[in-house]
Order: sequence, then C-alpha cells, then structure tokens
Amino acid sequence: MDALRWLARKYHIEIQEMERTPEQMAEIQLSDALYIVNEFGLKHFQEQLFETDEGKSVALAYFKQRGLREDTIRAFGLGYAPEQRDLLVRRARASGHEIDLVKKVGLCSQDGSRDFFRGRVMFAIHNISGKIAAFAGRTMSSDKTIPKYINSPETEIYVKNKTLYGAFQAKKAIRQRDECLLVEGYMDVISLYQAGIENVVASSGTSLTEGQLQLIKRNTNNLKILYDGDPAGIKAALRGLDLALEQDLNVRICLLPDGHDPDSYVQTFGGEAFSKFTTDNAKDFILFKTELLVEETKGDPIRKAGLVKDIVASISKIPDPIKRSLYLKECSALMEVSEQALIGESNKLITTLLKKRDEKAARQPGAASDSPGGTPGYEWPTEPPAVGDPASVIPAFPPRREGEVMTRSDEFQERDIVRLLVQFGDQMLEKEGVSVAEFVLSDIEESLSDFDNVLYGKLAAECYQLILENKIADQNFFIHHPEKEISDLAIDLLTSPWDLSPNWEARWGYPLQNQPMPDLNFDTDMRQALYKFKLRKLKKLCEIVNPARIKTASEAEDMDEVMRLLRIQEKLKTTRNELALKTGNVVLPK
Ligand code: UTP
Ligand code: MN
Repeated sequence: MDALRWLARKYHIEIQEMERTPEQMAEIQLSDALYIVNEFGLKHFQEQLFETDEGKSVALAYFKQRGLREDTIRAFGLGYAPEQRDLLVRRARASGHEIDLVKKVGLCSQDGSRDFFRGRVMFAIHNISGKIAAFAGRTMSSDKTIPKYINSPETEIYVKNKTLYGAFQAKKAIRQRDECLLVEGYMDVISLYQAGIENVVASSGTSLTEGQLQLIKRNTNNLKILYDGDPAGIKAALRGLDLALEQDLNVRICLLPDGHDPDSYVQTFGGEAFSKFTTDNAKDFILFKTELLVEETKGDPIRKAGLVKDIVASISKIPDPIKRSLYLKECSALMEVSEQALIGESNKLITTLLKKRDEKAARQPGAASDSPGGTPGYEWPTEPPAVGDPASVIPAFPPRREGEVMTRSDEFQERDIVRLLVQFGDQMLEKEGVSVAEFVLSDIEESLSDFDNVLYGKLAAECYQLILENKIADQNFFIHHPEKEISDLAIDLLTSPWDLSPNWEARWGYPLQNQPMPDLNFDTDMRQALYKFKLRKLKKLCEIVNPARIKTASEAEDMDEVMRLLRIQEKLKTTRNELALKTGNVVLPK
C-alpha cells in the first residue's frame, strides 16, 4: 500500500483509496504503535550493547568472538538486554511509551514489572519492509536447562509462519542471483551474509510454512535448502522439500558435513569454500531422496519398491506437468525402473483411489440413483430409459452397461467440472472479468445440487459458498483441505487430469474423444467442459421426458406425473435453448 501511494505521488497519478472502516483504521493505528515500541526496544538494546560496560564486555565481546564485524552487527539490529530486572520498562515509561503496548509486543511481563529479555544477546526480526516485527534473545549461558532462544509473542505485526528471518536484508540479492538459500538459524543467516552470501533466509527453528515459501516465491523460483546433516536436519529438509515442490519451486538440497551448521562452516572455511561446497553438493530432490535411501534398500526389492513409490508421490506434488514428466524420467534412470512402470505406478494409485471413491459414493445415502438432492419440482426416475427413448439416440455418450447404476454416467463430466474448479478456479477470464470458478458455478448453479458423485458435489458446493463469501479458492486451498477426501481428490485431479485415458475405453466401451489436451488454454478447456457437463444434464432430462411417457401417464390419469413431466419439459426447453445459443452450431437432441 505504501509503495503504491509513493509511486502514485511520484508519477502524479491520482489514486482513489477505498474508505477504511473504523476497524481497519484501528488496526493500522495499533500496528504503527507497536512498531514504534519495537523501534524503541531496538534503540535500547543497541545502546546497551555499544555504550555500556556490561554490554561491551559481555555481549559485544560475544558477537566478536563469534566472528561478527561491527557493520554486520548494525545491519542486523543486534543488541543486548542486560541482567537488570526492569531497565527497559523504566526507560519506556520515562520516554512516555504506553506500558500496555510494551506488554503487547512482549518486551515486559504482563504486570509491567519486569523486562522480558534479560541477560541475552538480542536479534531484531525485521518484516519484509524493514520494520521491527519482533525480537529473539539468545542466552549466553551454556546451561542446557534454560532455553537457548526466546522470542517475542505473535502479535498483529508478528505472524511467525509468514516471517522469514533475513528476508528484508536478502531480498535484493535473492532477485539478483535468482536463488534463495534457506538455512535454519539466525546466526547462519548473519554469518553467510557477512561472508558475501547475501541471498539467505532462515525459517528460524519452526518447520517451513507455505506462507514463508510464498515470500520466497515472490523473488525467485529457485530454492536451495541448506540444513545440518544430522537426522533432525534431514527430516526438516524432507518436510520442507515436499512443501516447496507444491509451490512449484525448483528445489535443491545440500546437507552440511557432520557437526557443521552453515554458520560454523563459513566461519571456519570462508565464503568461497562455502559456495563451492554447496554448489558441488547441492542435489536435485530426486537424487537427494534416492541417495539418502538407496543404501538402505540395496538388495531388498520390496523396500526399493517402497522408495520408488515415495519418490513418485513427491513428484506427484509438482503442479507443472512438464516438470513432472521430466522428473519421472530422471527417477526412472536413477532407480533403474522403466519409465512406463513409473507412469503405471501413478495411474495405479489413481485408479484405486477412484474405485474407492465410487464405492463410497454408492454407499452414501443420497448418492443413489433417485433424487440426488433437493431440486424442487421434480425427481429423477430410478429406472433406465425405455428403448426407443430419444435419450438412447444421442450420440457420443457411453452406452449404459447392464445393471449399471444410471447416475454413475454423469461422473466423468462432473469430475471435469471439479477439475476446472481446482485447477483454474482462481484464474481470471479476461473477457468476462470474473474468475473461472465464478463463471463455471454461476453457469451451472441450478445443477449444483444434482451432482451424482457426492464428493464432486461437495467440492463444487464449497467453492460456490466461498464465492458467495467473496473468496476464491486456489489450488493450495484444495490440496491442503482439512478433509482428506477433498485434498486427495485435488491432488488426484491436479496430478493426473488426463491420465485416465488408457482406462477409458475399457471402462466405457467406446474410444475417448475430445479429451482436453494438457496445453489447451484454460478458457477453451473450461467452455468445453461446461458444454459437456450441461449436455450431460440435458440428456438426463431427455431421459425422463418423452411423449410416450406423458401419454402413458395421462392415460392412467396420473395428473401428478403428467404435471411433473411437463415441468421437466419446460425446463428442458430453456436449457436446450440456452445451450444452443451459446454453442451456435451444435445440433441438440430434440
Ligand atoms: P540451533 O540450536 O541450531 O541454533 O537452532 P543456532 O542458530 O545454530 O544458534 P547458535 O549458533 O548456537 O548461536 C536453530 C534455530 O532454531 C531456533 C532459532 O531460530 C535458531 O536460530 N531455535 C533454537 C529457537 O527458536 N529456540 C531454541 O531454543 C533453539
Ligand atoms: Mn549455530
């Protein structure tokens, strides 16, 4: 916002600011006030470090002994909180700061009587634009019973999982080098930066989050994870890896030699040696996982198969289909497994998943072939259409197999709609000026309660609800959906939207046609899917209404049934016209 205003002023562009609500105003005022208190805290800690005897002899000496130069100490806002119990609080009072705010940012105890950080060297945690969001204090004692680092609490201005330590200092270098290094600790960032390796940030002990990765992704697509080579480091690296793959970052991993963290390595061997080591040893994630586990699986085909599955699962997280296929190829070479087998492996998973879902949907009440959900005015018949129905002459749809539940046949079209929502839901349609999700859902609004597949229906309904709340869900929303069946479905749809083709013919008994191509633009893709979906629903209406039925009903003087059929016929007519209007040249079933 500030940047926009600044730019506007610079280029004399008038911008219209939305009126802020009183709550928003209050929020901004509170944030500003908190930053001011933290700024005061920073000055205080720096003064204590550089200008007091205790600071100089204890803390400054400590930083120097750890190899830090004075310019580095200043650039990172390092400081010292002396042992005294309430020095900061007293000084804050004396300079007119509200103690409630001092409490709120966590610089003093809740009763306002004691400083929070005492006898610790201090690290300022900047937000991305350089304001002080929080502090971390490191003890200088080697007593294992006291926590090594303590941190400010989360506040309006400090949201841990959206903060990356060092991001403010590093962002320029990250852009210039088009790469971001990710380390674990504060000292790692500072020492590397001082050694000229400035494109470095830390996750600060917590496991890496999506929000942090998004901060990185704003500046580069290339991430190098540099963690300790101990089991904890490896575990953290693996966790970060999968998350980073989901964000479509190109990830490389480098573990440091035993007993070293980036700080100790660069302080011992220097920046050049560090760069060389990490360049030589950074591994592509497949190579990393493979090498990590391949020793263990030697000569054990079952465990090797497990490893292959594990890697294929990671690869499946990559949203980009081209990258994915390249990785499958690489994995095939490294693991000495045929590429076809790997593709088969992913297809197998998908098929099993689908089958499970089918069974589940069939078991669920309401998923049965009768009234799939509350559309007022008419019910769906349970019996398949009679031979000679107009429905049976509509070409290009799978002939129903004997005994097959009627409603199952709409699932493919529904799946395609749901795929659109997951894959492109948040994309904007240029001409219409709305998102794909809004367009699709408003177009099929009235069919929303008629989904045959309960799970697909549920996902579509949730999307619709979000739109009513003015929110748009992106891929990650679905991938990380709290309900496992939805997140599984999303992953499935994103990883293999077109992988079903080999099974299609076997399943439906006629060849696949008009499948969307992977490189089809989403606009065309969307219109095709919508068209097919509606045609499908239309076909269902045709199955119910036909002159023979109306005749039979009226002969039996079943007026309710006649009315019902007429209502459906009316609906059928409008839908057909609407569809004909949109598609123009398509001949629709009469
Ligand atoms: P480390 O224990 O590896 O510390 O924790 P470090 O960064 O190498 O620090 P030095 O070199 O001993 O001074 C890595 C990171 O985990 C977080 C901190 O962000 C730390 O930098 N951490 C660790 C905590 O938040 N609290 C702790 O008690 C320990
Ligand atoms: Mn360390």
